[in-house]
Amino acid sequence: MSERLWTAVDGYIDDTLVSQDGILQSAAEASNAAGLPKIAVTPAQGKLLHILARLLGARRILEIGTLGGYSSIWLARALPGDGRLVTLEINREYAKVARENIARAGLSSLVELRLGPALEILPQIAAEKGGPFDLIFIDADKENIPAYFRLSQGLSRQGTLIIVDNVVRDGRVLDADSSDPGIQGIRRFNEMLNGDPRACATAIQTVGAKGYDGFAIVLVTAAG
Ligand code: SAH
Ligand code: DHB
Ligand code: MG
Repeated sequence: MSERLWTAVDGYIDDTLVSQDGILQSAAEASNAAGLPKIAVTPAQGKLLHILARLLGARRILEIGTLGGYSSIWLARALPGDGRLVTLEINREYAKVARENIARAGLSSLVELRLGPALEILPQIAAEKGGPFDLIFIDADKENIPAYFRLSQGLSRQGTLIIVDNVVRDGRVLDADSSDPGIQGIRRFNEMLNGDPRACATAIQTVGAKGYDGFAIVLVTAAG
């Protein structure tokens, strides 16, 4: 079974179930035209984030890693009119594209895009008493996943859902001796979760248009 088949099936799922509209499509196209890396969530994954946010009745969402705002739009569309999505991005050019895409989606009033390194902004959000969030999507550099997760726990309440993208990486997560700091970050994150009484966690492997990867889903069972 090949990535070509996974991509074709993803296309079929998009056509039959996801029904991504023109705004999401143009966000993806504008991101590609601006030369952003093609690493946004797929339409099917974006809709999963949207469904989970709706299921939670999320009013406050935190996203770490905006890129062109594709996943931000899926998430922000799940919010009520007085909801808020805070999304963090380190790259000024990507942030500019994201702001344009979010504006075109009519979501600027719900979305706060903060430019800078997430490791600096997350403690600022905590100091501003910006939490707790109902849903947190961690999707920036993989090396710092453990730190992002720790800081996210501090911005959570009991019942917060934390989703972490890219935790399988073609199965490379199995390589304990990997020289890739991203793989080591994922492995340290899993070790942190293993035995953390404040977290109820699983991971789901995925195949599709983005190849073979997976995401972790963590229910915060106690704050802090
Ligand atoms: N969530 C997006 C994809 C994010 S890709 C979507 O699915 O549409 C990862 C993003 O994280 C990139 O835009 C990258 O610039 C950003 N990033 C990487 N390191 C970061 C850091 N230290 N702080 C904030 N953002 C970072
Ligand atoms: C990469 C980052 C992502 O967030 C992703 O979903 C896929 C790939 C990357 O940096 O290669
Ligand atoms: Mg990702």
